[in-house]
Amino acid sequence: MTDPTLRTMGQQLGRRSWAEPWKIKMVEPIYMIGRGERAQALEKAGYNTFLLRSEDVYIDLLTDSGTSAMSDRQWAGIMMGDEAYAGSRNFYNLEDAVQTFCGYRYVVPTHQGRAAEQLVSQTVIKPGQYVPSNMYFTTTRLHQELAGGIFVDVIIDEAHDTLNLHPFKGDVDLDKVRELVKQVGPENIAYVSLAGTVNMAGGQPVSMANVRALREVCDSYDIRIYLDATRMVENAFFIQDRESGWADKSIAAILKEFCSYTDGAWMSAKKDSMVNIGGWLAVNDYDLFDALRNKVVIYEGLHTYGGMAGRDMEALAIGIAESVQYDHIYSRVSQVHYLGDLLLNWGIPIVQPVGGHAVFVDAKRFYPHIPQDQFPAQTLAAQLYLDSGIRGMERGIVSAGRDPNTGDHRYPALELTRLAVPRRVYTQAHMDVASEAVKAAYDSREQTRGLRMVYEPKQLRFFQARFEPIGIHS
Ligand SMILES: Cc1ncc(COP(=O)(O)O)c(C=O)c1O
Repeated sequence: MTDPTLRTMGQQLGRRSWAEPWKIKMVEPIYMIGRGERAQALEKAGYNTFLLRSEDVYIDLLTDSGTSAMSDRQWAGIMMGDEAYAGSRNFYNLEDAVQTFCGYRYVVPTHQGRAAEQLVSQTVIKPGQYVPSNMYFTTTRLHQELAGGIFVDVIIDEAHDTLNLHPFKGDVDLDKVRELVKQVGPENIAYVSLAGTVNMAGGQPVSMANVRALREVCDSYDIRIYLDATRMVENAFFIQDRESGWADKSIAAILKEFCSYTDGAWMSAKKDSMVNIGGWLAVNDYDLFDALRNKVVIYEGLHTYGGMAGRDMEALAIGIAESVQYDHIYSRVSQVHYLGDLLLNWGIPIVQPVGGHAVFVDAKRFYPHIPQDQFPAQTLAAQLYLDSGIRGMERGIVSAGRDPNTGDHRYPALELTRLAVPRRVYTQAHMDVASEAVKAAYDSREQTRGLRMVYEPKQLRFFQARFEPIGIHS
């Protein structure tokens, strides 16, 4: 039992407490609807948390994408929008921020990450070429496949084991890269697609040593590396915290050095940069930039706004600078770890080490009686909502989709329910409530049955698929 004299959260966890480096200026009320209404809402949503109405959700841990709270400075930036069709002042501020903090030469704005993924994939990949990557991300792999690329997972094996405590489970296995090059030839590799941190592995980082070594390997074959920089600031924090030799370097310096080992990047700015909408891609090669800048006009808009309003580019430029501030990133990652520690203390199976943006519950170990093709992670997301109004999302067999060649489900080793924490939005009390919701679902796990998919969209099925509880109509 907890010692009743341990009053603060810090004392309970055996450390001095820390606090968020902000105070609240405006609040948005949230409400919990009753259990009967939640049951109805869930049925109406086909047991898919993406199809719930946000007003029916109490604490929304669906995603950290576009859901963060902007600072007063970012809101002030919104008022400074220069909405000129061409050459907006805000574009130049954004370009400058990307160049300053990531070091790439040429910048193209896009309305969000997947637009940048589409442009890079369509421009760089020749049909039939291979795209090795440190695990897949749903939209990234889809765009690579739509461009004719063949995805190959080259992440280290430790990433597929939810209990392995490797500090950099996002690392690339260099032998897997060498083996692929040996098999198919370097000319048949479009580029290495490197993500820092790896969302689908549980928000796991890539070490500086690994990206340096990857650069050497790729240089020896003349292969380029493009970085998914969506959560690269969180990755930089883990390097500072865990990798020897980096403790005294600033987050900004670590970020810039990491990017320097890559040839370009794309970013969903809706995550680390704390804007509600936005993205960019950036490269060092002028010819490639020219091709991308030309293509962005077809899909997104002129190359000085790329689908974003001027005001959104301004908020993004400010958000990039705020994201590398130590106090911010420390409290952001610590809040996620606080939630993870609560669950671990109750013996609830989660991906360890806890990652940067979310706690991932291991649904295979949570519901060992539910086979993977009855969607244990989807079941847990539905159960959490039903029980407590908390919204998480599936990151398992539904997200993995079907193999384009065989048409069968892909059966990923990781079957996870993600509780993603928006930045600067919730307090530790919300984390306490969320953890108790998971505990309640865990306590009743043996009575929980799996789901059957009754509607399956062709692409990115996790967004719109519908399910029914097994036992109903059967
Ligand atoms: C790692 C990663 N890459 C790319 C994307 C796609 O970005 P967006 O949602 O802005 O299109 C996401 C979004 O969830 C992501 O997590």
